[in-house]
Amino acid sequence: MTREQEPAKIQSMFNDIAQRYDFLNHFFSFNIDALWRRRAVNAVSLPAPEVILDVAAGTMDLSIAFARKFPAANVIALDFACKMLNGGLGKLKNHRVFPVNGDGLALPLPDNSVDVVSIAFGIRNFESLENGLAEFYRVLKSGGMLLILEFTPNRNPLFNLYSGVFMPFVGRLISKDPDAYHYLHRSVKAFPSAEALRNQMETAGFSTVQYKRMTMGIVALHVGGKDKLN
Ligand SMILES: C[S@@+](CC[C@H](N)C(=O)[O-])C[C@H]1O[C@@H](n2cnc3c(N)ncnc32)[C@H](O)[C@@H]1O
Repeated sequence: MTREQEPAKIQSMFNDIAQRYDFLNHFFSFNIDALWRRRAVNAVSLPAPEVILDVAAGTMDLSIAFARKFPAANVIALDFACKMLNGGLGKLKNHRVFPVNGDGLALPLPDNSVDVVSIAFGIRNFESLENGLAEFYRVLKSGGMLLILEFTPNRNPLFNLYSGVFMPFVGRLISKDPDAYHYLHRSVKAFPSAEALRNQMETAGFSTVQYKRMTMGIVALHVGGKDKLN
């Protein structure tokens, strides 16, 4: 990871763009982000997860999607940028989603306590991917699942023009942080390929790791399991 992943910088960048985050997210993705999240939720093969931890939850769209699909589960929505969580509070209604201001690299949860860990468009920002995966593994119960939804480095020239020129230009006009959407482009380019991420998940101990590319390979959903103890 580069110095760009300095946690304090990332945290303040997301606090700065929190107010406009949902609008720009849906705008830039033509609302396809809702489909990506739906796919992630549908990838949970456990019949009745009790505790779901959505790390880097931001304005909590994925957390809410989990709560809708699994109404009996407790969904912990954890993020270190308080303003991102605040931005999503109005959407919570009576869903069992519990926002927690915390660091994904030092989860305030005991070992073996969570059925599903998810992270959507967040792990790319981690200072250490390796430490993040180890932390997710630690809190998962045996038999639990990890879902990672993330952009993948992409060589499509059209996509590069869109994410490298158009998004930073519009992002600069609309959000409070002029560099935030440039950072998005740079951080996606620096992130491991889908295959490399799969290998890192396996190195961290996850088994039966599979991934599925979506929307012309812009995004990938990785799913891995923590083996059941015999
Ligand atoms: C691009 S947003 C994604 C938000 C949400 N998951 C979504 O799909 O819209 C990335 C989020 O990751 C959070 N984040 C990055 N690093 C983090 C860390 N170490 N601990 C907790 N949250 C983190 C940021 O604060 C930000 O809200």
